[in-house]
Amino acid sequence: MRIETDFLVIGSGLAGMMYALKVAPYGKVAVVTKTSIEETNTRYAQGGIASVTYSPDTYEKHVQDTLIAGDGLCNEQVVRSIIKEGPAIIQDLIDLGTNFDKTPEGEYDLAREGGHSEHRIYHFQDRTGFEIQRALTEQVLKNPNITVYEHHFAVEVITQHHLGYSVINEGTDTECYGAYVLNPNTNKVDTFLAKITYIATGGIGNIYHTTTNPVIATGDGIAMVYRAKGLIDNMEFVQFHPTALYNQNERPSFLITEAMRGFGAILRNRKGEAFMARYDERRELAPRDIVARAIDTELKVSGYEFVQLDCTHLDKDGLLSHFPNIYQKCLLLGIDITKDYIPVVPAAHFLCGGIKVNAKGRTSIKYLYAGGESVSTGLHGANRLASNSLLEAAVYGLRAAVASSEKVANVSLNTSVPDWSDDGTTHPEELILITQEFKELQQIMSNYVGIVRSDIRMNRALARLGIIYQETKALYDRSTVSPALCELRNAINVSYMIIKMAKRRKESRGLHYTLDYPQKLKILR
Ligand code: FAD
Ligand code: SIN
Repeated sequence: MRIETDFLVIGSGLAGMMYALKVAPYGKVAVVTKTSIEETNTRYAQGGIASVTYSPDTYEKHVQDTLIAGDGLCNEQVVRSIIKEGPAIIQDLIDLGTNFDKTPEGEYDLAREGGHSEHRIYHFQDRTGFEIQRALTEQVLKNPNITVYEHHFAVEVITQHHLGYSVINEGTDTECYGAYVLNPNTNKVDTFLAKITYIATGGIGNIYHTTTNPVIATGDGIAMVYRAKGLIDNMEFVQFHPTALYNQNERPSFLITEAMRGFGAILRNRKGEAFMARYDERRELAPRDIVARAIDTELKVSGYEFVQLDCTHLDKDGLLSHFPNIYQKCLLLGIDITKDYIPVVPAAHFLCGGIKVNAKGRTSIKYLYAGGESVSTGLHGANRLASNSLLEAAVYGLRAAVASSEKVANVSLNTSVPDWSDDGTTHPEELILITQEFKELQQIMSNYVGIVRSDIRMNRALARLGIIYQETKALYDRSTVSPALCELRNAINVSYMIIKMAKRRKESRGLHYTLDYPQKLKILR
């Protein structure tokens, strides 16, 4: 089947929906999403979205906090421009129906998280993402110009390579004409032709064994752009959230928001010692890379499987009103957070790098824009400041929409694109191989390319990944495509990029910490 549209959006999280809503007045929009419209990383965001509002906070303070967290690799111009657009984008989200908590006096109840020098996080209880996803989903579903294709899996973006043309300058002269998308109703790959395509496929958490990300996060968009020879950067900077709930059989790991530490919760080791002062003078509110590494060290030194988050000294009413979701979740597991310590461990959480985009959200491929966690804008540098990603996804979603709607009238559909040809056969019995390979991949990435790395570990990872790559390629070549097989292939591609870029970085910086280039003793900032 062929579907023709002005704008094709791949992904229904904050980035995809913001873009879809803002381009909708300028043409027909198709949104494809690989499961249901709500199942996104966005939906699980807890802490909130950072933006400067009240004095004594200033743009400059937010800029400096972001630059410090980014450890020298942020693009300062990008940082300044995104932060300045914060208040307008928050208003936009409110106008689209998002609720944020207010104080009894009617002011926004701004929270504080690690690395932030002020209270500046807009939140809705401890489930801000759920609220944003709800509001934007409602808007998208009632927009007559937007058609949503749920359970449709984007397999590849379409470029000249599919027309059999060679491209002189790969990356800069490549053009995008839409995407090949697996239709769940027919099990066939449909051709979605679009004048402009927008990738908003989110993060990569599931290439690790322990992650806060839902299973959709397999780096699909990044892998598609990589195969289309678009530019990708900063993949070595994978953020581990310091405090995921330790509950051995639960995947994804349930997040214990950083806002709890902003509210006064203390990290304790199994002996009950508050250990963060040994690592950083900002203690529990140091940037995430420092807190996650401190926990990792405590675990390695003690041999225990988790550390603990202590809320028992905090105001009970405040705790319950700010964190009702976490309270309920822990209670179900027999942990009363007003009396008991919460067992926590670090978990893969966020990718700082991704598809390289310019200030308008355009990739290195013509007619292809991208946003959200799939992209590298320059905001996060070597380590993202908490609650800056929802801000980035919304601001860049809007910017890409403005740029795309200015351009769309001058772009034509390329109708000479061939349909997907699939000579493979279905091998349902191979699903076990795919599942097994995926588990192996997660073990490799967790064991060798996690919070603490080294050349020996990364070489080992690369060698083992090579075997999985060869086996999966053979399977892909003889099989019809399926979401599971495509996800495995994408996960291998992004893992490869992470290891390659990590090996190239001959230093420890931000989230990339390697034993071969140990960091100078960090001067307490
Ligand atoms: P997502 O919201 O992940 O959406 C991706 C979409 O792409 C999904 O619809 C998915 O189905 C679709 N997709 C993927 N691959 C394909 C494919 N092949 N074909 C079709 N569709 C596809 N950030 C903050 O700023 N503040 C927070 O408080 C915060 N808390 C977080 C808590 C948790 C537990 C997690 C996991 C993340 C949190 N983050 C937070 C990070 C933030 O939520 C994400 O970075 C952000 O929501 C990403 O939005 P997105 O639109 O880029 O992608
Ligand atoms: C959290 O609530 O701790 C997550 C915030 C983020 O990832 O930005």
